[in-house]
Amino acid sequence: MNNFLTIIDTPAEILREMLQRAIDLRRRPYPGLLLGKTLCCLFEKPSLRTRVSFEQAMRRLGGSVMSMSSNEIGIGGRESPEDIAHVLSSMVDAIMARVLDHETLNRMARTSAVPLINGLSDYAHPPQALADALTLIDEFCPGSADGLRGRAVAFVGDGNNVARSLAEICGKLGMRFIMCAPEGFELPPDWIDAATRRIPGLEVSSVSDPVEAVLHADAICCDTFVSMGQEHERAQRLEAFRRYQINQELVSQAPAHAIVLHCLPASRGIEITDEVMDGPRSRIFQQARNRLDAQMGLLAALLAPRPW
Ligand code: CP
Ligand code: NVA
Repeated sequence: MNNFLTIIDTPAEILREMLQRAIDLRRRPYPGLLLGKTLCCLFEKPSLRTRVSFEQAMRRLGGSVMSMSSNEIGIGGRESPEDIAHVLSSMVDAIMARVLDHETLNRMARTSAVPLINGLSDYAHPPQALADALTLIDEFCPGSADGLRGRAVAFVGDGNNVARSLAEICGKLGMRFIMCAPEGFELPPDWIDAATRRIPGLEVSSVSDPVEAVLHADAICCDTFVSMGQEHERAQRLEAFRRYQINQELVSQAPAHAIVLHCLPASRGIEITDEVMDGPRSRIFQQARNRLDAQMGLLAALLAPRPW
């Protein structure tokens, strides 16, 4: 089954195909590509970009889409993840789910007869990583992922779902990944070891000093310090991440060509300042817009008839 649950489980050639299709579809729209196909989107957490980009991508490619919140379907409450996926996949051509617990996706994958896409879990955010890679391509090597090889991406902040998927796509596309987090919030060392074994090109360095992290970086990436579901840890997290804000002083330590990315939504003034977010190095809103192209590439790679 062609699921898209994590970047690490997606072969590099498929990721490249998704990115190439995103680039091609952006240049040359193909409104009939997914004619007759239906995507069902399930949400256990709020979303702006993920929901709108998947819905709009399906429409742009001629398919249809429906979205439901967990209030309506009660994943794991009213019905088990296995039964939901079994029933849904007898009616639609693909399922996208944003879930609280990644295990819910693993359970859905056991019974889904159609491609299952992770629209963010506590563990990973693969469609975001695809849009991040597309934004790096746009900046450094327009038209093809090949030129990304050898670039360095610094992630300053929490070793969370977004950081993990970004690290994985960096490895798959030949970029170095620098993880910069305070103690206790790093990407787990055993995960780094396992990922390095599975992704031959993955090179992760872990540092705790934000200046050291950005010094040779081509891109500085960040995310909220308090992910959805961690609201009860807010005070402790804000204290731990006090030195990890992306501000002008930090950005001025990076090479002159370095760009700034944030997956959004942002807490302006907390993990990133207005000055950086709205400044000349920011590609954040282009990155958000790229969710649409990336999702078109992803859906085309999973659902379009071959050859196309
Ligand atoms: N970046 C991202 O996934 O945004 P949403 O939570 O709004 O979907
Ligand atoms: N790490 C964040 C990403 C939001 C798109 C979260 O999980 O809430």
